[in-house]
Amino acid sequence: MKITSVTVPIEQIQADALIIPIFETEKETRFSAGSLCDSGEVLGKPLELTILHNPAGMAATRVLLAGAGKRERFDAAEMRRLTGAAVRLLKSKSVKKIAIALEATSQGTEFAAAAVEGAILGNFEPDRHQTANDKKSVDEFIVGAAAFEGFAGSVERGRIIGEATNFARDMVNEPGNLMTPLRMAEVARTMAVEQGLACDVLDRDAMEKLGMGSLLGVAIGSAEPPCLIVLRYRPAEAKGKAHLGLVGKGVTFDTGGISIKPADSMEKMKYDMAGGAAMIGAMRAIAQLKPTVPVTAYVPCVENMPGSRAQRPGDIVKAMSGKTIEVINTDAEGRLILADAITYARSQGCTHLVDAATLTGAVVVALGHLRVGLFTNDESLKDRVLAAAGAEGERMWHMPLDDDYREYLKTPFADIANVGGRWGGAVTAAMFLKEFAEDTPWVHLDIAGTAWLDDTKPYLAKGPTGLPVRTLVRLALDWKD
Ligand code: BES
Ligand code: MN
Ligand code: ZN
Repeated sequence: MKITSVTVPIEQIQADALIIPIFETEKETRFSAGSLCDSGEVLGKPLELTILHNPAGMAATRVLLAGAGKRERFDAAEMRRLTGAAVRLLKSKSVKKIAIALEATSQGTEFAAAAVEGAILGNFEPDRHQTANDKKSVDEFIVGAAAFEGFAGSVERGRIIGEATNFARDMVNEPGNLMTPLRMAEVARTMAVEQGLACDVLDRDAMEKLGMGSLLGVAIGSAEPPCLIVLRYRPAEAKGKAHLGLVGKGVTFDTGGISIKPADSMEKMKYDMAGGAAMIGAMRAIAQLKPTVPVTAYVPCVENMPGSRAQRPGDIVKAMSGKTIEVINTDAEGRLILADAITYARSQGCTHLVDAATLTGAVVVALGHLRVGLFTNDESLKDRVLAAAGAEGERMWHMPLDDDYREYLKTPFADIANVGGRWGGAVTAAMFLKEFAEDTPWVHLDIAGTAWLDDTKPYLAKGPTGLPVRTLVRLALDWKD
């Protein structure tokens, strides 16, 4: 979808459909919807959409009155949903060229970026492998507004972040037979070449030399070779001393291993690399938006399979950090691969770490599908991540991580067990990671409930959501030492 901006009056915006946001209990003054508002047909409720054909005095062939809700509650997140829903409705009617008329407000740049993000996210479909040739897609999205400072730049930022999110969604959407660990590395490398990032891919031998026994123990059950993808962004001149490390879980398929999962819904476990895909997607946007902080992404990629070579419950492995781990449950594999990736990121000089992982079913029990579970050992990094998430409309919730939870992971046979019993599963998983983050400021995002949407929403297709690409990009862009 081509993204453009114009600064002509609303009547002159050329498009197949012009979106005009309508606020509840307000009379729209820029365009007269007249009796429609008076009769109660158009109320301005969130996501209420009304198409008008051949509107008088307008260059656009259609006007789409888009309910925006109450003005005082309207924010960038609402704007994203509004354009997402508008694009999805118009797309279903084969409309190709869509514009939105933005009001001049103090939040102009945030709203313009959000409008573009929403449109790009709404235009995404998970139907790449359907062979029909009548697929519908919007060709162009135009943001119209009275000229204001930062307008063109914010439209561009929205485009880059929206496209990076869909890039991650495309990766997550691919099934396990196609999106193998080596394929993930190929996608990352191609992207890196295009965007001017450095890319290294560590193979099994390299990881063995580094002593990554925890990661390799998971990989051993699969015929697919594992890898650790490293993507590096370096600013022209780094302003401070910080080096942000992004670590993402890249389990390309999670059968559970010997502690095998039930068949019901197992097909969804192709999205167990969503954290890794989010890091690769975020790096794509970071390469284009060029924040002043150096950022490196680490994506450990493995397939978790049962088999005659697979690791067994009770096996003890040695992590790169030197700690020994008793693998009580082979289905708690995400933390095992992240442990070594986190240690490696620290050894490479990362001063701050954010990881994202579809880590536990328990976080879905705790927070449902609405909020990402956030765990941390550092209040100030947590505040930055939450601020970035708030600005980008990716909802998160700070979860506890008291030292006492460490007891759940005690075992007489090794330094730490990979599971902590039945209760507080999302917390004990985070506690396990904390053991490897040690004293490096670190935030862990458990995205098991939020990386995949089970039912299509008016503004978003069923399938991968691309969380938390937007938060990570924003975190890097807004970074201050
Ligand atoms: N990938 C799963 C977590 C998951 C569950 C993601 C549901 C998305 C939806 C993870 O590897 C896993 O299997 N976790 C186990 C941990 C348990 C064995 C302690 C879980 O949550 O059941
Ligand atoms: Mn698992
Ligand atoms: Zn998993």
